[in-house]
Formats: sequence, structure tokens, C-alpha cells
Amino acid sequence: MNTSRAVNIEDLRRAARRRLPRAVFDYIDGGADREHTLAHNCRAYDDIIFRPRCAVAVPNYEMRTTVLGTEIAMPIILAPVGSSRMFYPRGEEVAANVAGSVGTIYTLSTLSGCLLEDVKKATTGPAWYQLYLIGGHDVARATIERARLAGYSALVVTIDTPVAGMRERDLRNGMKELVTRNPWKMLPFVMQFAVKPQWLAGFFSDGGMMKFPNVVLPGEGPMLYADVGTALEASVVTWADLKWIRHAWQGPIVVKGVHIGDDARRAIDAGANAIVVSNHGGRQLDDVHATIRALPEVVAAARGQVEVLLDGGIRRGGDVAKALCLGARAVLIGRAYAYGLGAAGEAGVRRAVEILRADLLRTIKLLGCPSTSALDRSYVEVPAEWEARVK
Ligand SMILES: Cc1cc2nc3c(=O)[nH]c(=O)nc-3n(C[C@H](O)[C@H](O)[C@H](O)COP(=O)(O)O)c2cc1C
Repeated sequence: MNTSRAVNIEDLRRAARRRLPRAVFDYIDGGADREHTLAHNCRAYDDIIFRPRCAVAVPNYEMRTTVLGTEIAMPIILAPVGSSRMFYPRGEEVAANVAGSVGTIYTLSTLSGCLLEDVKKATTGPAWYQLYLIGGHDVARATIERARLAGYSALVVTIDTPVAGMRERDLRNGMKELVTRNPWKMLPFVMQFAVKPQWLAGFFSDGGMMKFPNVVLPGEGPMLYADVGTALEASVVTWADLKWIRHAWQGPIVVKGVHIGDDARRAIDAGANAIVVSNHGGRQLDDVHATIRALPEVVAAARGQVEVLLDGGIRRGGDVAKALCLGARAVLIGRAYAYGLGAAGEAGVRRAVEILRADLLRTIKLLGCPSTSALDRSYVEVPAEWEARVK
């Protein structure tokens, strides 16, 4: 794909759909159950109206900010996206490399197809490690130590995954059967791959990713793709676990997956340094509020004690601006760059970030706001019922 032709993220999404087998595209694109939250996450931005200040001359617009003390070139961070190596050869390394070159943070998922050490080496920028407690505390302790030695600067603990969400598209596409390596079970689902020879050639030349090298289970070696569902169910993260992680990891902790003010307080009590208002991109519990709608309650509950970030539904620079207006320090993007990766590897991720960066810059100029960090509530109007939720 000629990525310069992509005008917006939706163009990259369409290109990803063309290059990827249906099962892989749907794995990125899909959500849980009826996909209500997936849709709300994007649509809720429509309910926020900008209040621009016109005829404002600004000599230098500024998008740089800091998150947990680290300076980044724009308030946009790459979220953890598991199995990125399935979208494009060495996918996690490719995305991390782009993040570093544009001056932002890459977050590596526990469920990565690439070694965490290789991913850190692939980027010149800061990187965070997202932790699932798969395998229990001993396995986590070993991974935390590896992440520390490799140079990851923060640990992102995802708390919304006591079980994998019900992704109906994955079931229909045979994602379960496809990872069994049992030819008879796989047979009904292989046609979707046969019609994407370019993807197939890349996948096999990259070793045909079927395992997660950063989850090393004692006596078993790296966890296989087929075992993820069961492993996640056995790895629920509790507030007590978070306190344990607080002791095991001396650096900053980001708690990802907070929906309500009470959980923000619990996260702070357990030692979090930042919170991500996230519903996992609508992939876990369906029919929860869109994250942009949940944000004001969490920001109020945080009382300025920790930095509050947001992810979910960010497809335009205007969405980023709205989240910053409502109190987010920065946003994380998931699908926006995953579509780019699936469409065209490095060029696609770069284009996704560039689209959002240029969009955001244009938005602050049109708003008459000198910098992204100066965005606040005075630049937007939100529906009255959103305000009512803030205690
Ligand atoms: C394909 C895919 C895989 C994901 N894997 C993980 C993961 O391994 N760990 C995690 O904490 N979140 C994971 N997420 C959630 C993202 O980190 C993020 O919360 C979400 O994508 C934000 O919504 P957006 O895609 O609308 O930007 C994943 C999301 C997608 C789309």
C-alpha cells in the first residue's frame, strides 16, 4: 500500500482489511459481545463540542509534554497490542521503532510475539512493559527483572482481564481451532489465509508466530498461543497483587483498565503512579461507558495525585484534543496504529501516528490554543448528564 494516500485512520483500516486474512483483521477490529462499547468509544467524541478562540496569533505551537517525568514529542503513546507479530513480521519491534523515531513511548504487551529485550533494542525512545500475571508471582518476578534489565521505564498493569472477553468474530473465524496445529480442526478455516498470499509469505518467513516468548512457564518454556484463554483466567490481578507488584518493581506503575472513580482511589492506595481510563478498546465487558465519558469521574477522583491517561476510540487528532480538555495528560492508541501495522508495517504505523499528530496540531491551531498542555474544559462543551456523574 502507498501509505501517503491514507488521509485518515479509516483509510488505514480499509488497507489492513485488504492485506490481512479475515481472522487476523477481525482480531484487531472486533470487540466483545454486541460491540456496543467498541462503537460508543468512538462515537462519544461526537457529543463533545469545541469552543474555539478565534483571531489568536501564536508564534510557536507546542505539543511536547511529560508523562511520569519522561518527555515525549506529543501526548500520544502506543498502547499494548498483543500478537502484533501476527499482523506484520516482527510487528512489536516495528511499532516500537516507529514510536522511538517520532519521540514517543511504546508499550509492549505481555502477549508479544517478540522478545522484550529485542523490542527495547529496536527503539531509541522510552518503552513501558504491560504485565499480565500469567503463571503467578514467580513468573512475574522473573519477567519484571528482565524488563528492568532491558530498560523499560514503567510497568503497565492491566486490571480488566480476569477472563478474556467474548469476541464473537474470533469464534466464527476459528481462532481457537487455528492455533491447535491439528490439521483436521484447522481445515474449515484455512481458506481465509490462502487468499492472502502476501501476508502468508511474511508470516512464514517470520517463523509463523504461535507462542509468547516473554511468558516463560516453569518446566514448559514459552507459552503457546493455544493456552492464552486458560492462562488469563488463572491470572486475575487483585489490589493485593498490585501491592505485591509495587514491592517487586521499584519504578513507576501505570494501572490500566479503570472505569470508575472508586477504582481510581484503590489504584492510588495500592501505589499507582498513573491510571489509564480504559475498557480495553471494548474487547472485555460490553455495555460499559465509553472511556471519554468515564474520564471526568476518574479525573475528579484522582484529585491530581496521579497522572490520568485515556485510551479507546481515538481515531482523530480532535479526539485526542477532547480527551486532553477533559483532563487526560496523554492518550494511548491501539487500533489506530495496529491498522497501520497490518496494512503496511513500518510505513503504516508511521502514517497512523503522523495523521494523528498533524490532526492534533491543526486542531489546537483552530482552537486558538498555544499548546496541547493548555487545553482545558473551557475549550469544550460536554452534555449536562456527563457532569452529573462527577461527584
Ligand atoms: C488487537 C488488540 C490487542 C490488544 N492486546 C492488549 C494486551 O495484550 N494488553 C492490554 O493491556 N491491552 C491490549 N489491548 C487493548 C489496548 O491496549 C487499548 O486499551 C485499546 O486498543 C484502546 O482502544 P482503541 O483500539 O480504540 O485505541 C489490545 C487491543 C487490540 C486492538
